Amino acid sequence: MYNKINFEKILINSNPPTEEPDRQYYFMAKCRERIKDFEQKNSRLPKACVVNMGCQMNARDSEKLAGILKEIGYLMTEEEQADVVIYNTCTVRENANLKVYGRLGYLNGFKKKNPDMKIALCGCMMQEPEVVEKIKKSYRFVDLIFGTHNIYKFPELLYTSLQSERMVIDIWKDTDKIVEDLPCDRKYSFKSGVNIMFGCNNFCSYCIVPYVRGRERSRNPEDILAEIRRLVADGVVEIMLLGQNVNSYGKNLEQPMSFAELLRNIEQIEGLERIRFMTSHPKDLSDELIQVIKHSSKICRHLHLPLQSGSSRILKQMNRRYDKEQYLALADRIRREIPDIAITTDIIVGFPGETEEDFLETMDVVQKVRYESAFTFIYSKRTGTPAAVMEDQVPEDVVKNRFDRLLKEVQSIAAEKAAKLEGSVQEILVEEINAQDASLVTGRLSNNSVVHVKGNPAMIGTLKKVRLAQCKGFYYIGEDIKEEDNEE
Ligand code: 5AD
Ligand code: SF4
Repeated sequence: MYNKINFEKILINSNPPTEEPDRQYYFMAKCRERIKDFEQKNSRLPKACVVNMGCQMNARDSEKLAGILKEIGYLMTEEEQADVVIYNTCTVRENANLKVYGRLGYLNGFKKKNPDMKIALCGCMMQEPEVVEKIKKSYRFVDLIFGTHNIYKFPELLYTSLQSERMVIDIWKDTDKIVEDLPCDRKYSFKSGVNIMFGCNNFCSYCIVPYVRGRERSRNPEDILAEIRRLVADGVVEIMLLGQNVNSYGKNLEQPMSFAELLRNIEQIEGLERIRFMTSHPKDLSDELIQVIKHSSKICRHLHLPLQSGSSRILKQMNRRYDKEQYLALADRIRREIPDIAITTDIIVGFPGETEEDFLETMDVVQKVRYESAFTFIYSKRTGTPAAVMEDQVPEDVVKNRFDRLLKEVQSIAAEKAAKLEGSVQEILVEEINAQDASLVTGRLSNNSVVHVKGNPAMIGTLKKVRLAQCKGFYYIGEDIKEEDNEE
């Protein structure tokens, strides 16, 4: 658990400790000295900006980086014209990589005006050796590159970079280490992600994640529970448990524990109102878990269950380890046991060798499961994955045509499903002031749908019952209900 560090007590002129996290606290203290020098020289505090480009895991890592920077003394900003800018990258699809190269050129413009500026790159994309080679060759102005396994070492790496003009690169291939107790700067005061495991052992044939995030490691349940208790004491009412494959949580712990059991323990935490989790692999989703969700008053009515393809033949090629029938049977069991649950999914179109018949199998699953929402992706070839060298890559125009048909179907089903809740009274967690209309607040239902309703900033972070007056396809306009209904 992170307790405020007493930096005055750290002996910065002695050798750095070898134990973690003390070693990083030491480097944070050293960086603080550099900030004091900066302030004296420039009559202002330095500014830092962390840009998150990836999934919720990445967002959580970005909060950790921001927590460290803030503790060191940086003023956090969303503007990239800052003294330290970190891009926390994603590499799951190729266009994510291309975006980074484009934006780096733009950052260099700022650096030309502020030569002391430090540009750092981290995250999944940096775990790819070809990427690091390219940056070393063509983007010499980058100051610091690190990966996903040593993010806890950021204070030490930042300090090294502040002391040097050279490009600092530190990438680890893998790790079995989990360092606890580093600061974290939450984006929202009332909700937070909580890592429960890192890495992935599944090796789906299209996916680069196991190569860039390493092998599966679960955090100790005591550490997870202590972190959540602390978050709740600090005003958090909703948590999102994060892992690439949460259903295999705890298998490699010294004292194995199932994900369902972990959830039961978390449910006991007083003051915690909502529990979410991401992502579930269909092959590991147990009946025990379905029962825990069913009987829980805190676990949200939302399950993200990536399908990827509806064709058993393609699923085999994808190394997903379930077939169409098993997936449909699972979705059926979930819907039967928990009728008000929203099931959402990820689907890839254009996996190598996908025929029209295979695609129609995917459409068939979509029509049978009737997802509340689905993320649809065009297959992206990731070098180093088995699928990248498979024959029969599908022509672009064919993929585009299938993608459009799938998207249309997914959207029309989602709108039909959303319309069913119109008129009902539901609870939302109010998250923010509406960006377009400041007289509205935006909140989320337990099933993850978005609701806009009249409100004010004081409501942020509170649970409120509203009537879903109007369904607008994928969101609702809510209206106030009588006070007494809100007080039950
Ligand atoms: N191409 C397209 N989509 C991919 N995903 C993962 N790898 C690829 C790829 N190579 C999608 C999957 C996954 C989601 C996070 O990204 O659908 O569930
Ligand atoms: Fe998240 Fe995967 Fe992208 Fe990494 S590669 S940021 S784990 S989606």
